[in-house]
Amino acid sequence: MRTSVTVPNEDEIRRQNGFMEKIKALNAKKDTAPKFFINTFGCQMNAHDSEKINGMLRQMGYAPADDEKNADFIIYNTCCVRENAENKVYGNLGYLKHAKKDNPDMKIALCGCMMQQPTVIETIRKKYRHVDIVFGTFNLYKLPELIMTNIESGAPVFDIWQKHAEIVEDLPTVRKYKFKASVNIMFGCNNFCSYCIVPYVRGRERSRRPEDIVAEIKALAADGVKEVMLLGQNVNSYGRGLEKETSFAELLRMVNEIEGLKRIRFMTSHPKDLSDELIKAMAECDKVCNHLHLPFQAGSDRILEQMNRRYTKARYLELANKVRRAVPDISLTTDIMVGFPGETEEDVLETIDVVKKVRFASAFTFIYSKRTGTPAAEMENQVPEDVVKGYFNKLLDEVNTVVYEINQSKLGKTYEVLVDDISGGDADFVTGRTTDNTLVHFRGCKDLIGELVNVKITESKPFYLIGEMI
Ligand code: 5AD
Ligand code: SF4
Repeated sequence: MRTSVTVPNEDEIRRQNGFMEKIKALNAKKDTAPKFFINTFGCQMNAHDSEKINGMLRQMGYAPADDEKNADFIIYNTCCVRENAENKVYGNLGYLKHAKKDNPDMKIALCGCMMQQPTVIETIRKKYRHVDIVFGTFNLYKLPELIMTNIESGAPVFDIWQKHAEIVEDLPTVRKYKFKASVNIMFGCNNFCSYCIVPYVRGRERSRRPEDIVAEIKALAADGVKEVMLLGQNVNSYGRGLEKETSFAELLRMVNEIEGLKRIRFMTSHPKDLSDELIKAMAECDKVCNHLHLPFQAGSDRILEQMNRRYTKARYLELANKVRRAVPDISLTTDIMVGFPGETEEDVLETIDVVKKVRFASAFTFIYSKRTGTPAAEMENQVPEDVVKGYFNKLLDEVNTVVYEINQSKLGKTYEVLVDDISGGDADFVTGRTTDNTLVHFRGCKDLIGELVNVKITESKPFYLIGEMI
């Protein structure tokens, strides 16, 4: 079933703006602006939601804190894709209980994917009573109203929706970088991979209208943005259910026409929906970066079927070859999981075989985490932890070997790099990414941040490159 998307509700935005004004007036009466700190867990989708939260809080007269310890308003934007991300949140909340005793005016808010699970809400209500505001993934735009309700009532506010409403456009956003930006093109997921909680916490797939996306990117480009990252759980199925159906390939071509924009990235792609039309558009659109993130998860056909991934190892290898033929220098990256219920050593060898054959430039490797409510959590044959650790180390060895070899092959070549920042360890160095998404460090000053420069690679490290600007 498709979910139709209604037009953005301008009245609702106006209502929230009203709350923002009221809170801003309250904050202006204080001696100093209250400070906020956002702790973001999980994926780029969450990171982008945090940019919206940041925008709203600033508009309400809060100022950013450099550290959680100095903050008066702390917000955790949570993830639930794996158990360890959830455990971190509970651990931090335990610590915040003491911090709140020292600063009784402190407000603690929780939002994001983890909050969409009823068992989590129950736990917070029972064990973490010092939390003030809780909301989910569908009603982020209501933050001003929730803060106001909490101020007026002095009581905790819980507002979790089990279903999405319409897509709300035009939230104020504070970008982390001036020269690059993330743009949501769709929300939710319809795939129901058997291990994954995302469809349950982010709802059904719904796409933003292409004209809204293009207008947002035009405004970003006019504001100095050179690179955009188009975000969706499964961008390859973009546009289904829209009034005027538009494919992701068509959207890419529209974005490619935007003046001033230099680079287009996107994530995440599902192999089952990677069409020839999209591969052609990637090859033909000059601004689309030489990089495709294409999670394959596992190499064994039996496990892929159990995962409900709807492709086989052979099909994945064929796709990778097809993409490489169309875009010869493209770098392929991926997500891989080990320890899915019933996975044997033989299955893992199939996964390793895919790594060897496709030669990924980098890979996110995960240990399967049992998520209550997903079909995989009910499967028998959950693999014991020590066995999975063995699989994981074997996989990681192979991934690292391939990544290092690929980095070695870049020695002596010149790449265009978009400079992101001063290098963490050394103020005389800057860091940025090539179009194929490799991290490069080179000598340079902060004036280069946001510039596209050519860099010749002089040294290769296991996970990044070192070069010289030419
Ligand atoms: N356990 C471990 N990893 C998971 N992922 C998704 N669900 C789980 C899970 N239950 C991984 C997949 C996905 C990435 C975002 O997270 O590899 O591509
Ligand atoms: Fe992102 Fe999924 Fe984690 Fe939510 S659960 S933050 S969508 S990775």
